Amino acid sequence: MLVLGIDSSCDETTAALVRDGTECLSSVVATQTELHRRFGGVVPEIACRAHVENYPWAIAEALSRAGVTLDDVDGVAVTNRPGLVNALLVGVAAAKAIAFARDLPLVGVDHIAAHIHASFLAPGGAPAFPCVALVVSGGHTSLYHLPSPTEQRLLGATLDDAAGEAFDKVARLLGLPYPGGPSIESAARGGDPTALNLPRSRPKGDGFDFSFSGLKTAVLYRAFGQDMKPGDAPGRTPVVPVADVAASFQKAVVDVLVKRTLQAAKHTGVREVVIGGGVAANTQLRERLATKGAAAGYRVVIPPRELCTDNAAMVAVSGWFRLAAGERDGLDLDCHPRPIRATPHG
Ligand code: KG4
Ligand code: ZN
Repeated sequence: MLVLGIDSSCDETTAALVRDGTECLSSVVATQTELHRRFGGVVPEIACRAHVENYPWAIAEALSRAGVTLDDVDGVAVTNRPGLVNALLVGVAAAKAIAFARDLPLVGVDHIAAHIHASFLAPGGAPAFPCVALVVSGGHTSLYHLPSPTEQRLLGATLDDAAGEAFDKVARLLGLPYPGGPSIESAARGGDPTALNLPRSRPKGDGFDFSFSGLKTAVLYRAFGQDMKPGDAPGRTPVVPVADVAASFQKAVVDVLVKRTLQAAKHTGVREVVIGGGVAANTQLRERLATKGAAAGYRVVIPPRELCTDNAAMVAVSGWFRLAAGERDGLDLDCHPRPIRATPHG
């Protein structure tokens, strides 16, 4: 079954073709980073206008790179939650138009589930179930127990900032360009990860929740001085070299993510650990989870970097599970800003 995937949940206009949920024939990402950079973050109205302009090209390019036409496509999968609603609407409208014109089955996909399903395109092969999955992106930091590919039980989530959001905010404090994750990663090269004594805070209780807002504030005080306010930091030179601040911050985030993920794996008794989302493109996180996970006896499944950040191949995989099970959505498919389950407590 050949599935056309579409994801426009944030600032990347994406389209991809994936066969049988495992063979990625093409994955096109028309990035809007330059359009948003001068605002220091994604501007929803600009994102949705750019999606309207980019989609005809992105879909044609995905078909062409895969060497197929719409005649070969068996179904259309589109992210319809969570995300910026006006951005989501553009991808959903494109998917509906193709499904209607070509009389193809259409399914809506949850973006967070899709980040987990990117692991089906990992070079070492798909994960086995049950497993534990960590999704770390700009909007989410959540741990799930997955008894099967389509069942997700939320074990814990961030109570404040997402890990990617923390990277973006700390980059802004340091005057590094948006998006903050890649900027911090390159600024950290050669830096001393022990230069700043930063907290590895753990929210109260025995769950698997995360908290990153205290870490961000600690970076502000330790790098610029106790009397500094967040709005005053950008443009100032920190009292500690930027490379050391970036390396110390990155290590603090990676320490917490790796530790909590392996604790969740132990708690649930699984043998496999999966990671996905934009922050999973981070080299330190990939290497530390792979090494520590293997040392503890787990098989760690890590998608290629370009399938960790937003893409439509993961959406085609996610949609394939629904399409193969005979599930269909109507042309009244709606968009939602929130995921299906936002917190373990809700
Ligand atoms: O999954 P994603 O592309 O979009 C969302 O669904 O949010 O994740 C984007 C987030 C941003 O916060 C970005 O700074 C972060 O992922 N990110 C990284 C890296 N590449 C992207 N964070 C750390 N290291 C990276 N190399
Ligand atoms: Zn994402």
